Parts: sequence; structure tokens; C-alpha cells
Amino acid sequence: MDRVEVSLGSRSYPIYIGEGLLDRGDLLRAHIRGRQVAVITNQTVGPLYLPRLQAALGDTFQVDTYALPDGEQYKTLEQYGAIMDFLLERRHSRSTTLIALGGGVVGDMTGFAAATFQRGVDFLQVPTTLLAQVDSSVGGKTGVNHPRGKNMIGAFYQPRCVLADTAVFSTLPAREFGAGLAEVLKYGVIRDPALFAWLEEHAAACLAKSPAALAFAVRRSCELKAEVVAEDEREADVRAILNFGHTFGHALETLTGYQQFLHGEAVAVGMVMAADLSARQGLLGWADARRIKSAIQAFGLPVAPPPLPAEAMINAMAMDKKAVAGHLRLVLATAIGRVMVTEDIDRQALLDTLGAGVQLCHDQICHDQN
Ligand code: NAD
Ligand code: GLY
Repeated sequence: MDRVEVSLGSRSYPIYIGEGLLDRGDLLRAHIRGRQVAVITNQTVGPLYLPRLQAALGDTFQVDTYALPDGEQYKTLEQYGAIMDFLLERRHSRSTTLIALGGGVVGDMTGFAAATFQRGVDFLQVPTTLLAQVDSSVGGKTGVNHPRGKNMIGAFYQPRCVLADTAVFSTLPAREFGAGLAEVLKYGVIRDPALFAWLEEHAAACLAKSPAALAFAVRRSCELKAEVVAEDEREADVRAILNFGHTFGHALETLTGYQQFLHGEAVAVGMVMAADLSARQGLLGWADARRIKSAIQAFGLPVAPPPLPAEAMINAMAMDKKAVAGHLRLVLATAIGRVMVTEDIDRQALLDTLGAGVQLCHDQICHDQN
């Protein structure tokens, strides 16, 4: 088992990573302070993993379980309200502990429920998607969607531990697994050239779900995210680098009505576009931009957006939470392993990137650049 520490003073917590950890009730029990536990899961993950988690918790607690309907469309205030009703009906008190068993949707909603129930109760993350293990379960961003925007209502609220069992990937659909790999690649681009090179070399092992490869990929990703979060918990500055590719990606998700891409897939295309723009602005060599695109392709992820009007993309990108007073603010790469956050966006370069992105549907990017 690996252990990564998220160092946030009195709110520090461990991330446990390893195969079969779902059965390690001792790890969870060490972080439960009261006698009541509410496991929040969904209707897909519950039947697969809830019995094991319940068995691991043993019979020393009052354990109640609540299964949300499955899907991003249920990450709503209404479902949040249903969790509150459930906790109150079962008479959970301020000393209860919530456990999120599921992907990022369950984790974000459970975290927000924990942040607000009786003004804040303990919660533990048991992430069951790759994306949730390497990204959403770590760092304390919690929340729900509003019809006017994704994750518009929420709170920074840290879990007391994260338990990442890498064996759960055996049941994860291939597209969901791939979407998580996009976030792993992101860590290489933003902060760790050695991880990026390792991923280039071990793409086949990762795609084949080699336990050793995945243990390394999850651990290294968590280490990198933990470092960034420890430096800037509430995204005053450096944490924004975690959003590399996300402003393009969110715009793609919005303009395609969340139907065409999983979040990680949209981020994959967004990273290619961000790399392309970085190169057009003279920040990144074209060879590195090509390397980023090739690595994303090697992981079977999409690299091209559908044909979308450039103005619509720019408007959607300006709606991003990272935009300041409607001004675009993007994370651009200056090397593999180094990025910067900038509002200095060359409009013509951006239009060319968006144009190249469309062209990419038929052709390929960067082919004749030096
Ligand atoms: P998800 O939670 O929707 O899970 C994807 C699908 O996989 C679901 O159908 C789920 O039921 C299923 N599933 C989960 N684990 C499974 C398993 N082991 N076996 C079989 N099926 C399984 O999606 P996600 O990609 O995990 O998370 C996306 C969400 O995370 C979005 O709402 C996004 O906003 C949020 N997010 C949050 C942060 C953060 O920092 N808090 C970061 C990134 C993303
Ligand atoms: N997923 C971006 C962050 O946690 O800040």
C-alpha cells in the first residue's frame, strides 16, 4: 500500500492507494470519530462495492446507506436536498461521518453535503473511478451543478482520508477509464516531465490496466495534486494550473450539450488545443506540442473537436470560472512539465488554434510546423 499526505495543517489527511483496500476497514475506522456513518453511493456502484465496504466497517457503527441515481444530471440541489432529508430522517447528528463511495459525482455531492450538514461533519472519500482517484477526491473541491453552470454551488471542504482501491478499475467502463488517463497525462504536462515520459513509454501497460503501472500512475498523480493543493488550497494562484486544457474542454462540453464527450475526453481535446495555442504564441516548441498530442492519441483519447464556430467557443470559454470579468485566462504550456496562467492571449493565435482544431477533424495538427 502507498500513502500520500495532503499537508494542510490541522486539515491534513492521508490518501491510501493499493489493490484491495476496500476491505481495509481499519484504515477507514481510524478516521471515524463518532458512532454514526452514512455511506452515499449511486445505483451503479452500490451493488458492486457497497456490501464489501459495509463488511469492512463492521458492526460497531450505525451504518445507513443512500444510493443516488447515476449520472451528472443528478448532481443537483434537488438530490443534495434528498441527502439532507435522508440524514435527518435517520437522525444523524453533528458527530456523523459521511463516506462517498463512487466517482466524482458522488464524491463532489457527498463532500458538499458534509460541508453543510449541521454546519459541517466529517467525510471520507472512497473513489471508484480513475478520475476520482487521481483528481476529484483529492483537494476538497465539493459542490453541485446549477442549470446555469457546472459546479456553480459548492465549498472547499477537505475529507479526513481518501481510500483508493485500484482493483475497482476492473469494473470501470473503458471510456471512463480513458477519461481518467487524460487527467494523469495532465499532471505530466503541468508539473512532471518524468511522469510524462513514463506515460509515453507505458501507455500500453496503463491501457491493459497493469496493477503495477496503475499503482504508480495513481500515486504519482496524487502526489502532484497534493503538492499543488498544499501550496494553494483555495485556488488563489498556482492551483489554477490543474485546469490545463479545461477552459477549452469546458467550452466543448457546453457547446456539445454534455452529450459527445466525457469530461476527461473534453480535457484531452482541450489539452491539444492549449498546446497548439501555446506553440502559436511562441511559448512552447512545436515538437513538444506534437508530443502532447501524440501521447493523448496513444491513450486512445480524442484530439479533435467537432466543427464549432470559433466565436461560440470563445464566448463559452469566457464563461469559465477562471475568466476574470469576462477576460479569458488560460493555462498555457512553456515546456513539458511547466505551465503558466496568463490573460495575455493573442486573439489571432486563438482563432488559428480554433481553426486548426476544426481542420484537425479532416487533417492533422502541426504537420508542417517546424
Ligand atoms: P462519475 O462519477 O459520473 O462516474 C462515471 C461512471 O462510472 C458513472 O456511471 C459511475 O456510476 C460509474 N462507476 C464509478 N465507479 C465505477 C466502477 N468502479 N465500476 C463501474 N462503474 C463505475 O464520473 P467521474 O469521471 O468519476 O467524475 C466526474 C465528476 O467529477 C464531475 O461531476 C466533475 O465535475 C467532478 N470533478 C470534480 C473535481 C474536484 O476537484 N472536485 C475534479 C474533477 C472532476
Ligand atoms: N480539478 C481541479 C482542482 O481540483 O483544482
